Amino acid sequence: MSRIIAIDGPAAAGKGTLAKRLAAHFGLPHLDTGLLYRATGRRLLDEGADPSDPEAASAAARALRPEDLARPDLRVPAADAAAAQVAAIPAVRAALLDFQRDFARAHGAVLDGRDIGTIVFPDADAKLFVTASAEARGERRWRELRARGIAAELADVIALIRTRDAQDAARAAAPLLQAPDALRLDTTDLDADATFARALDLLAGRIGPA
Ligand code: DC
Repeated sequence: MSRIIAIDGPAAAGKGTLAKRLAAHFGLPHLDTGLLYRATGRRLLDEGADPSDPEAASAAARALRPEDLARPDLRVPAADAAAAQVAAIPAVRAALLDFQRDFARAHGAVLDGRDIGTIVFPDADAKLFVTASAEARGERRWRELRARGIAAELADVIALIRTRDAQDAARAAAPLLQAPDALRLDTTDLDADATFARALDLLAGRIGPA
């Protein structure tokens, strides 16, 4: 049986770093599902189409190819905004379900996102809900921005995180929710190494050794 590890949680909680490390540890492929929404939004921007148009957006989602996820321009502010718009469209989410399930079919996978344990793989072998306070997540994002040479006020970055949380939770299509059987991992006071160690403890007995 292929092994599926589902990792969900809000922005900047440490899901991506943790997912990569768990994938390497267990010898599983990793899919950052946020990239699917970013790449769909990016295609629409390239075509000059409106990312909130359900027909154009679902056609772009159906046309997505694995190589689209390797584009270097998926983490710029325009792609952030377009991703959030397409992620609110049910037909886009439906179109991306097959991509996510096909990715994991052959060898299993570690997938990180917002709805992996609730909708994409409700029967995942293990589910983690990775979260942290808005202040801690805002500070991490602010440090990342600074490292990339982008100046921003910490208070503004924290406010943006709170806005994104509210949008994710209030969205009618697949709102961010902790699955009832997900294990909660609060990373507010944990660095990446401590988060990884805690995740391995939580997963012990649920996922066979690498
Ligand atoms: O995690 P991220 O910032 O790369 O996600 C980009 C956007 O896609 C963000 O608006 C949340 C959304 N998303 C989603 O709705 N479902 C997922 N499984 C992953 C991301």
